[in-house]
Amino acid sequence: MEDLAAPAVLLTPAHQFPTGVPLRPERRAAVVDWARRTGGVVLEDDYDGEFRYDRQPVGALQGLDPDRVVYFGTASKSLAPGLRLGWMVVPPALLDEVLAVKGGTDWSCSALNQLTLAEFITSGAYDRHIRATRLRYRRRRDALVAALAEHAPEVRATGIAAGLHAVLRLPPGTERPVVRSAAWQGLAVHGLDHYRHPDALLTEPRDALVVGYGTPPEHAWTGALEALLGVLP
Ligand SMILES: Cc1ncc(COP(=O)(O)O)c(C=O)c1O
Repeated sequence: MEDLAAPAVLLTPAHQFPTGVPLRPERRAAVVDWARRTGGVVLEDDYDGEFRYDRQPVGALQGLDPDRVVYFGTASKSLAPGLRLGWMVVPPALLDEVLAVKGGTDWSCSALNQLTLAEFITSGAYDRHIRATRLRYRRRRDALVAALAEHAPEVRATGIAAGLHAVLRLPPGTERPVVRSAAWQGLAVHGLDHYRHPDALLTEPRDALVVGYGTPPEHAWTGALEALLGVLP
């Protein structure tokens, strides 16, 4: 890996957002090697690691070097984003500094919510909740992939079977009209272009739709899927 001119790098190694791919083993090793050689820090954003459907989750990158990698987890996907609860595993050498900075800014994180989450975890109820939601989201993803094969064969779900979003590759030139039609149908989905850096160079068309399947309540899910199929080429 070429040396980065930066003191820290933020990654989503288990499931890149938005593309939905994992960091390959050799890239995982390379980024840790970069941090060791340069004194850099890797920030590992594990925002949806509880939800892997095709295999056991890969271990955290933080395990490769707990002195150089800061691990971030969140309840935003596993419970609800409105809770504003997350956690960090911090290298010992950085702990005092992190506590000082967080202590000065983090007065709004509810103590009651933190204690409730702690009780939820120690009682085993959090694990049960994760197992049940993992099954529910897995079924949604499977239903989406099966529906594409049947009704929109030109569209393909890419990325690993994980998390709460899928990236649907679209035929070249169709991303903008599909995003516009989706908005007309009341679907809150973005094109991949929404996430692209303005200076990014594209060597080939990458038309795609980023579809989150976690948000609709159970009773609205089938209707949302049908509406989506209605706007795909
Ligand atoms: C890449 C990524 N990281 C982290 C998060 C969680 O963010 P927050 O804890 O601010 O809700 C999300 C949520 O969508 C995300 O997509």
